[in-house]
Amino acid sequence: MATQRSLIAGNWKMNLLSEAGEALARGLARRAAADAPAADIVLCPPAVMIPLVAAALSDSPIAVGGQDCHAEPAGAHTGDISAEMLADAGCRYVIVGHSERRADHGETDGTVHAKAAAAHGAGLIPIVCVGERADQRGADAIGVVVRQLTDSLPEGAGADNTVIAYEPVWAIGSGRTPSLDEIGDMHGHIRTWLDGRSGTGADFSILYGGSVNADNAAEILALDGVDGALVGGASLKQKDFWAIVESCT
Ligand code: PGA
Repeated sequence: MATQRSLIAGNWKMNLLSEAGEALARGLARRAAADAPAADIVLCPPAVMIPLVAAALSDSPIAVGGQDCHAEPAGAHTGDISAEMLADAGCRYVIVGHSERRADHGETDGTVHAKAAAAHGAGLIPIVCVGERADQRGADAIGVVVRQLTDSLPEGAGADNTVIAYEPVWAIGSGRTPSLDEIGDMHGHIRTWLDGRSGTGADFSILYGGSVNADNAAEILALDGVDGALVGGASLKQKDFWAIVESCT
C-alpha cells in the first residue's frame, strides 16, 4: 500500500477577495511554521489572487496551485491562462478536470488530457480529477472512473509528476460522502488500474474529494489508499482547513 506523505489541497473555487485570501494564506503559513504538519499542503486560489497568495507563502512550505489551465502555452485564447503563466506566477500544482469545469465549460476527458500534458510541459503537477455523477453511482462507477483515467492521463503521467483526485460529483458541496468502504474500494480500484498501466500504482498520491470537513477528515484520511484530500468549502476557513491538515498522521 502507498506510503507517501499525505497531500491536503485547498480549492478556493470562485471565493474570497484579496484581503480575506491574503489573511487566510498568512494565517495558514503561520500555523505551518509553528506546527510542522505531517502533510504537504497546497492552496489553489482564484487566478487573480495567485501572486498575492504566493507572496504570502514565500517563506512557507505551503505550495500554490491553479484551479485550471489552458492546453496551449500561449496564444489567442481570451480569458484563459496557460500552465506556463501559472508556473511563472509561483504555482507548483494545477487542478485539471474538476467536475465543475467539466459541467460549466463542457470539458471532456480529451480536454483534460491536453491540459494535464500542458501542465507537465510547464513543470507543474496536475491534480487530475475523476469521479462519477449521481446517475452513474453504483455498479457503473468503477467503469466511469477507469474510462476517465484512461482518456485523461497523458502518456508521461507518473507518480512523480501527477496526482489523482477521486471526487464523486454528487458528494461535492453537498454535505454527503460515500461510505468509508466505498471510498476505500474506489481508491483500491484506481490504484490497481494505475499499477496495471505503469507498475507504479503504489507510488501515486490518490486524494479523496467531496464534502471533506473537520469532522469527517480523520476517518477518511485514515483509510488505506487515501493519500490526502481535495477540499473545497472547508478550505475557506483557517480553523476547519487546519483541522483537516492535522487529521493526517
Ligand atoms: P467540497 O468541494 O469540499 O466543497 O465538497 C470539493 C471540491 O470540489 O474539490
